[in-house]
Amino acid sequence: MTLLVTGGAGFIGANFVLDWLSVHDEPIVNLDKLTYAGNLDNLTEVQGDARHVFVHGDMGDRALVRRLLERHRPRAVLNFAAESHVDRSIHGPEDFIQTNVVGTFRLLEEVRAYWSTLPQDERASFRFLHVSTDEVYGTLAPQEPAFAESDPYEPNSPYSASKAASDHLVRAWHHTYGLPTLTTHCSNNYGPYHFPEKLIPLMIVHALQGKPLPVYGDGQQVRDWLYVRDHCRALQRVLAAGRPGQTYNIGGGQEKTNLDVVQTLCALLDELAPAPQRGVVDARTGRPIQRYAELITHVPDRPGHDRRYAIDARKIERELGWRPAETFDTGIRKTVQWYLAHPQWVQRCQSGAYRDWLARQYGASMA
Ligand code: NAD
Ligand code: TYD
Repeated sequence: MTLLVTGGAGFIGANFVLDWLSVHDEPIVNLDKLTYAGNLDNLTEVQGDARHVFVHGDMGDRALVRRLLERHRPRAVLNFAAESHVDRSIHGPEDFIQTNVVGTFRLLEEVRAYWSTLPQDERASFRFLHVSTDEVYGTLAPQEPAFAESDPYEPNSPYSASKAASDHLVRAWHHTYGLPTLTTHCSNNYGPYHFPEKLIPLMIVHALQGKPLPVYGDGQQVRDWLYVRDHCRALQRVLAAGRPGQTYNIGGGQEKTNLDVVQTLCALLDELAPAPQRGVVDARTGRPIQRYAELITHVPDRPGHDRRYAIDARKIERELGWRPAETFDTGIRKTVQWYLAHPQWVQRCQSGAYRDWLARQYGASMA
């Protein structure tokens, strides 16, 4: 028995691999293209572990995927691989179409070819688990009910449109060819190994460096926050007991405005790593700061910015018995502690390419 995971050197995929191998003996073949978001440092815990086979490659490389399927004969494929950052999709949507749409299509085709050759019992138990996002449902007004699995798709960004397209392909491969697929829609994940271009890690890393904390627009946009290891456990439940052809929403039940999140992070850093003790100075003025919240800076809003996401996770709770173990308060404390304990991981992420991205998105002073 083996799992094939795509994108397992990224944030959620790596957490899934580490969590899986901490409780299962079943090996994982991890196919990852190592884009800017893929990082082998995320997998050092399983370096040398015979249960983890890392393959550097593209899920859209059909010959490679075919070889891997034939050689390792997985009982399931979990598709984490994607271009995942909304802001990057606004600057350059093409990679999102190529990876999220074309890449998923090619992966599906190779998996279908492999699956169709399996003996009857293995065909029946095989699973293709596609990791999608709540962003395919669009945006919510403040009083609207949370997203349910039956809600229509209304993607608003190039990123969410490309994820929506890939979900439709997965759905069609189930309905037309009978491939036993499962699709999950999770809310905003946070936790260890999160690349510091996304809200939470960016704010932690910038605060410790005395850089501005860029809040888009009024900061009143709402996201539901899901601790990444809770998400990984939900995926294990879906893989084990989800019904083929079904979709499952996964959420933390923790809605927060962005400004609340940033203020919480600043307060935690004040407690765990006080700026005066670390000698943090405001990078813009060179003056020492007393509290990290002094760095909060409102910047122009993201074009087409979705106002609110919220997840109705009653289906996975009812059918599969999954609930998140962490609240935002417990998960965010663990997350800040992890970043404080791993300065070298952070340092190695901050390559020239990362600084180029900061300059492009926020202006030269932020890089
Ligand atoms: P990430 O950007 O951190 O990692 C993506 C990984 O995929 C990287 O390791 C990258 O190298 C790899 N990759 C990209 N293109 C590839 C290709 N063509 N072939 C093989 N590997 C490739 O993303 P993440 O945050 O870990 O997200 C994982 C999945 O979860 C994505 O599908 C994303 O859409 C979805 N998701 C993420 C969140 C979140 O909060 N992070 C929320 C909802 C859904
Ligand atoms: P992000 O982490 O990019 O996730 P997503 O856009 O997929 O929800 O952003 C989370 C929220 O934080 C989103 O409303 C945009 C906002 N945000 C900022 O205000 N400033 C930033 O620098 C970033 C990266 C995000």
